[in-house]
Amino acid sequence: MRHGPGAKLALGLTMTLIALAACSQPPSTPSGEETDLPAQTGDAVAATSNEEQIRRGRYIVRIGSCHDCHTPWIFDEELGMPRPDMTRMLSGHPEGGPDPEGTIGPHDIALIGPTFTSFLLPFGTVYSLNLTPDVDTGIGTWTEEMFLDIFRTGRHLGGNGRGVLPPMPWLWIRNLTDDDLRAVYAYLNSIPPIRNAVPSPKVPEEVIWQLRDSFDRYAAQMPQEEWAAKKAE
Ligand code: HEC
Repeated sequence: MRHGPGAKLALGLTMTLIALAACSQPPSTPSGEETDLPAQTGDAVAATSNEEQIRRGRYIVRIGSCHDCHTPWIFDEELGMPRPDMTRMLSGHPEGGPDPEGTIGPHDIALIGPTFTSFLLPFGTVYSLNLTPDVDTGIGTWTEEMFLDIFRTGRHLGGNGRGVLPPMPWLWIRNLTDDDLRAVYAYLNSIPPIRNAVPSPKVPEEVIWQLRDSFDRYAAQMPQEEWAAKKAE
């Protein structure tokens, strides 16, 4: 049977409707990431608002490209390309995993390891941290206040020590509102904990402190949203 233009149109419309219907469903992923929302228990209103916060956090994490650096990549033979391995979602540089190989060329800014979680920069090697709620190796013991302070001060764990090192884009992420940062924190605490001890950065001690000064000066020149600037004072 030959299909006339009408049939084509109908088919096109059906496909559009199917696509729309698919969009209105929560996307299903092979990673099981959708199962990370808590079941509603106890106070239904509080549970709903917590769930909404977690959803917002997940949305920010997805569009904020956190997976690109904090979820280790694998080479997918079937696709013929590398991609984040969602079974190790947001668990950072794999313990004992490979560093970038070779040396940085005179014009290169960085070498990136095969899991996209280790970065050799001209001053040393930096590893993406474990953002899952594991209490020993992840953010399980971090308070919400510490989490916000990281982005408001640019200091490791929000303390008074070293600065947060590149390529962690905290200077952009710090433009999130406090509520958005809280949502990211809530979401990260809702995902499956993965035990994975990430190595400390291999950067000489004196360089770490020089970098902190340089970053403070650079941060002062970087555009910052009003609300975030106020909190930093
Ligand atoms: C380009 C790569 C990259 C991207 C994108 C990225 N990170 Fe990171 N992140 C890193 C690296 C590398 C470190 C370790 C930095 C260090 O050791 O100082 C890090 C560290 C962190 C830390 C700990 C900071 C500290 O030392 O106290 C937090 C929290 C964090 N990232 C959250 C996020 C979130 C949330 C997102 C997405 C909105 C994100 N990162 C996106 C690379 C990245």
